[in-house]
Amino acid sequence: MTGTPQNGIFAQANQFYLALEYRCAASPELKTAIKAARAVTATSLDTHTVFAFGNTLLRGFSGGKLNDFTSISGASGHTVPATQRDLLVWVHGTRADTNFDIAREIHNALHAQCELKLEVPGFNYRENRDLTGFIDGSANPANDEMYDVALIAEGAEAVGGSYVFSAQFVHDLAAFNKLSVHSQEAIIGRTKPDSVELDSSVKPMDAHVSRAEVSENGVELKIYRRSFPYGGVQQHGLYFLAFASDQHRFDAILKNMYGLSGDGLHDRLLNFTRAVTGSYWFAPSEEKLDSMLA
Ligand code: HEM
Repeated sequence: MTGTPQNGIFAQANQFYLALEYRCAASPELKTAIKAARAVTATSLDTHTVFAFGNTLLRGFSGGKLNDFTSISGASGHTVPATQRDLLVWVHGTRADTNFDIAREIHNALHAQCELKLEVPGFNYRENRDLTGFIDGSANPANDEMYDVALIAEGAEAVGGSYVFSAQFVHDLAAFNKLSVHSQEAIIGRTKPDSVELDSSVKPMDAHVSRAEVSENGVELKIYRRSFPYGGVQQHGLYFLAFASDQHRFDAILKNMYGLSGDGLHDRLLNFTRAVTGSYWFAPSEEKLDSMLA
């Protein structure tokens, strides 16, 4: 059994991004609409896409099952609301103009069947930095490891598919930027100019990378992150987006970040950014997508 992963999961060298979250109900007409939307993406070499489904639509199309995202209320008062929708279309590429044209055509194919609930256009900020100025992605798995981390392995029916977590974060940059670089580095757990991980003797236990690095039975629960900065002068932040071969690791990392893993600590980065959406999705392999939509 083989499964070709959707190529947008791994395609690199992107400068522009767009996340579209839709509400829609399973129907033969929706299958036709998604097939038309997929066909649009085949016409561009500059733009890549991922189509991912919420649990209701996934089951409606006999594509499998996943757990819907349920809201998180951290012990420290930080939250991730559950805004689970049915279809995520992630568009990204090297050109803003081509992305725009492709995204409009995708939306034209979908809009009679689906209601667009969220649209987040994003951009690459200062060579892969988050808007806080810190490089985002340093510890991301690379080369063959990224496939192992992101994709369901051979032998399973859903081979080549990927579980996805998305959350739109709104930053309080005014508050973050008031801090000294030294204090900011203690919050992230890495140096600001060049992303060197702080030595364990000085890295706080509640730094972001300390809370996001979670192991179970001696094995690190890795995820493959593809988040992107978004926004204008008034509201801005990070559309967090990550792929994994199982759903559990997202839950475990989020618990640790939000102070729900029993050690009384929460991620200090959450004092400077607030999640306003939260969803779990499944991005089937190309073959599975073909069979689901047949
Ligand atoms: C606004 C929200 C967030 C920002 C600005 C942010 C930023 C960063 C930065 C700057 C790093 C260090 C560099 C790197 O390794 O990439 C990092 C690491 C990491 N982040 Fe986040 N992140 C955010 C939310 C999240 C969330 C929600 C998760 C998980 C659900 C997460 C998981 C991770 C992981 C697993 C690492 C690598 C830790 C390690 O092994 O060193 N992050 N993040």
